Amino acid sequence: MTDSRQVTQDFLDSAQYLETSILQYESVYGQDFVSPGGREMALEMIARMALGPGAHVLDVGCGLGGSAFVMAREFGLKVDGIDLSRNMLALANRKLQTNGLAASVDLRWGDCLELDCSDCYDAIYSRDVFLHIHDKVRLFTTLWDSLRPGGILLFTDYCCGSESWDKDFKAYVEDRSYCLHSVVEYVDLISAAGFERVIGEDISARFIEILEADLVRIGESALEQATRVKLEQSWLQKLDRCKAGHHRWGLFTAVKTGA
Ligand SMILES: C[S@@+](CC[C@H](N)C(=O)[O-])C[C@H]1O[C@@H](n2cnc3c(N)ncnc32)[C@H](O)[C@@H]1O
Repeated sequence: MTDSRQVTQDFLDSAQYLETSILQYESVYGQDFVSPGGREMALEMIARMALGPGAHVLDVGCGLGGSAFVMAREFGLKVDGIDLSRNMLALANRKLQTNGLAASVDLRWGDCLELDCSDCYDAIYSRDVFLHIHDKVRLFTTLWDSLRPGGILLFTDYCCGSESWDKDFKAYVEDRSYCLHSVVEYVDLISAAGFERVIGEDISARFIEILEADLVRIGESALEQATRVKLEQSWLQKLDRCKAGHHRWGLFTAVKTGA
């Protein structure tokens, strides 16, 4: 169900998260975002945590900082963001230097499997990051340890269906070294780490709507022709995999209860 392979900073920065690729993703997802639904989805997810101003949140795999900036600016939260990609973090910190949020947002390099503080956070938030993590047992144990009692875990992630994978989906996952689980497997993994009130929702229908809207935006964008065609192809393939039921999108919430 889980394995100990580890994706490294070098792998991310030399393949999926080259600076040019990050900027292309940002042109699709919207300013400061590298995940489906961009700012609109982030607002919805942050609101779900129902945290009061001043609450301390860890944004795991903060990317360009979009969610962290929204949490600070629009919800009054104090945010630590960590990311394993140095390319991503350099761009994020450039944004932080100019957007006036440095008093409430700290973005630094880090691996979410190596968090070094216990009972630190009121909430852990993560958007489409855990697909990169192979050792999910260690991941959820580490996150559990970093939350304060009563702390909330909320994340979205790419998931897979429970039926066997076709050749195309296997190649897609292997190329990126993703490690995907079904929504049900994820709920079991989160529960096994000690979390309670674990809820997993399959939000693939929403993913399909987002991908279709992205495709319209890509078509209308001012990107150069070759880039536009490449992104369109990649998005159409994602849509096909979703509609075939292989590629799914999950939303998970859980609580660290107890004293
Ligand atoms: C799809 S991007 C999402 C970025 C951001 N959460 C957003 O919503 O825009 C996935 C991010 O996870 C980061 N990541 C991957 N493995 C990580 C790890 N072990 N620890 C911390 N961040 C990681 C990547 O560098 C990348 O920035």
